[in-house]
Amino acid sequence: MTQKTWGGRFSQAPSQIAQEFNASLRFDRRLALVDIEGSLAHAAMLGQQGILSPEEAEQIRQGLLAVRQEILEGRFPWREELEDVHMNLEARLTELVGPVGGKLHTARSRNDQVATDLRLWLRQELDGALEDLKALRRVLLAQAERYLEPPLILPGYTHLQRAMPLLLSHWFMAYYEMLSRDAGRLKDARARLNESPLGAAALAGTGFPIDREATAQALGFARPMRNSLDAVGSRDFVLEALAALTIGQVNLSRLAEEIVLYTTLEFGFATLPDAFSTGSSIMPQKKNADHAELIRAKAGRVLGSFVTLATLSKGLPLAYNKDLQEDKEPLFDAMDTYRASLRLLAAMLPGLVWHPEAMRQAAASGFALATELADYLAERGLPFREAHHVVGRLVRYCLEERKELHQLSLAELQSFHPLFAEDALALTHLESAIHRRRSYGGTAPEAVREAIKTAKAELEGEA
Ligand code: ARG
Repeated sequence: MTQKTWGGRFSQAPSQIAQEFNASLRFDRRLALVDIEGSLAHAAMLGQQGILSPEEAEQIRQGLLAVRQEILEGRFPWREELEDVHMNLEARLTELVGPVGGKLHTARSRNDQVATDLRLWLRQELDGALEDLKALRRVLLAQAERYLEPPLILPGYTHLQRAMPLLLSHWFMAYYEMLSRDAGRLKDARARLNESPLGAAALAGTGFPIDREATAQALGFARPMRNSLDAVGSRDFVLEALAALTIGQVNLSRLAEEIVLYTTLEFGFATLPDAFSTGSSIMPQKKNADHAELIRAKAGRVLGSFVTLATLSKGLPLAYNKDLQEDKEPLFDAMDTYRASLRLLAAMLPGLVWHPEAMRQAAASGFALATELADYLAERGLPFREAHHVVGRLVRYCLEERKELHQLSLAELQSFHPLFAEDALALTHLESAIHRRRSYGGTAPEAVREAIKTAKAELEGEA
């Protein structure tokens, strides 16, 4: 038999072209192991409920285990003409155990079956992604610690204009915080999807005396889903995961972009490890940040997956529609992309070689310390707006005289405002600017040390 048939209703075999168009085996093979897990739970429950005899349930169990073995050993005879993973596994089961294999599908439909499979698969992958993410967060934390003592200083930017000096550790911790929220979103998605659609059958439930609590429990779900129509017709759990993955990838793209920038000759703050850069086929001097660029680009790709699923879900009538077969490829692709990006960054970041002198020089020039002087005047009673204005004029003077702030004499400072005294001169030094920013969440070494300590405890305390 090479053709799949749907039994008595059909007198004509499907056309080859229609069959190929309809098939999902090419990508849903990826669900094979979770599909078997679901079938094992279902068969055991059918046996317990007396819907199948104990012998039948056992025969099916043995058959499913044999099928699983074939898959694990890569010798499962996949047949494209059988449309999808579910039909393939059931057909093979029946080949192995005989007609009793056909009883597995009692009180079940592919609609609740595929919804169950996808939840199981996604739950497992979210756990994997959370592990990958944790590994990267650990790396960020380790880098933050590594560059705290002696502290590496770089300019912080707003509008990509030098704004104020920062500790490199503080910069690393900013990404740690962003990625920790990403983890929170993945966990939320996982918690909400962990309910069992199994037993919803085609859309309305079943007349067989099934035990949905039992299958839910066997599969590690928190509970059976409460509404059969919703159970088979909803994919908002995939959408939610894709939203979380999109935000995660967008955050990674920002880190990637800063790596691209900082490793240019123009910035010169860091050098990529050879193992994580590429050359040019024509320009011998080039060392390109291809991998970081790809991570930056892939944010578009993951968002594309979200948009694909949101678009196909919009206006879709209940319950199952074949449109829902199109949920898998975007999900698989987004998950693979995100996890690969996490692993790449975790491997690359520790190998970045930072250049303290170049970073320091950039942080000390370009008037990144002008705010210090404005704060100084404000602390001595001048309204901040006025102080801002005074220092603005000072900066213009420096530009005209081609001087940096730290090259100004006390007399020069005082010619702009009499409140300037000897101690103002010290403010134009990097360290003092950094050390003054002790406010909670600020860039002073003691504040950053505190942040690292908190993060470490949090990370190790996570399940
Ligand atoms: N291959 C299908 C999918 O991925 C399985 C469910 C098919 N259900 C149906 N009623 N045709 O969505």
